[in-house]
Amino acid sequence: MNYDFKNSLTDVRSVVHLIGMHGDDLIGLELGVDRAQSFCTLLQACPNIKHLTGIDNWQPYTDYLREDNEPGPSNSTGEAEMEIFEFMAHHHIRFSGEEHRSTIIKGNIEDLAITFPNERFDFIFMDAWMTYEQALKELNDWYPKIKYGGLICGHDYKSHLIQRAVEEFREQNNITQHMSVYDSMCVWKK
Ligand SMILES: C[S@@+](CC[C@H](N)C(=O)[O-])C[C@H]1O[C@@H](n2cnc3c(N)ncnc32)[C@H](O)[C@@H]1O
Repeated sequence: MNYDFKNSLTDVRSVVHLIGMHGDDLIGLELGVDRAQSFCTLLQACPNIKHLTGIDNWQPYTDYLREDNEPGPSNSTGEAEMEIFEFMAHHHIRFSGEEHRSTIIKGNIEDLAITFPNERFDFIFMDAWMTYEQALKELNDWYPKIKYGGLICGHDYKSHLIQRAVEEFREQNNITQHMSVYDSMCVWKK
C-alpha cells in the first residue's frame, strides 16, 4: 500500500462510518470516479465492502453545481486534464492495496444503468452529476439498482440544483424515508 486514503478527507467522508456499519460483504457503486480519491477511501476504510464498482467517462465537463449557489459554472475541465485524472484514478487504485476488490468502467453513466440488474447494490455514492437535469435522470436510472434497505448517498447537496432534483425525485416516487443531510451529502435508506 503506497497511498493512505483512509485518513484523507475525501468527498465521501461523511458517509464512511454509515457504509462501514451497514453490514458484511457489501456491493457498492460510485458514479463519478475522477481521480479515485473517494473510491480509494471507501476501499481502504470499509473492509466490509466486498466489491466496489466505479463509473466515469473521463471526458471534459462543465460543472454547474456551486456551494455558494451563485450563477454560472463552478469549474470546467479540458481533455488534457481528464487524461491525467484518468491515469491518476488507475494509479491511485493500483497502489491503494485494494485493487482486487474493485472494478472501473469507462463509459457514460447514462448508457450503463441498463447493464446492471435491479437491486444489485447495497449502496450507491452519486457524485457525477453536474446539472439539475443530470441529477434527476441519474436518480431515476440508478435508484432501482439499490437493494431495499440499501443506502443512496448523494453529494453536492449544498447546491440548490441538487436539492431541487432530490426533492422532486422523492416526491414523484412517494419516498418518505427520513433523509439525513450533512457536509453537502444527503443519504437515505431505501
Ligand atoms: C466531482 S467528480 C467526482 C469526484 C469523486 N467522486 C471523488 O470524490 O473523488 C465528477 C466526475 O463525474 C464524471 N462524470 C460526469 N458526468 C458523467 C457522465 N455522464 N458519465 C460518466 N462520468 C461522468 C466526471 O468525468 C468527473 O470525473
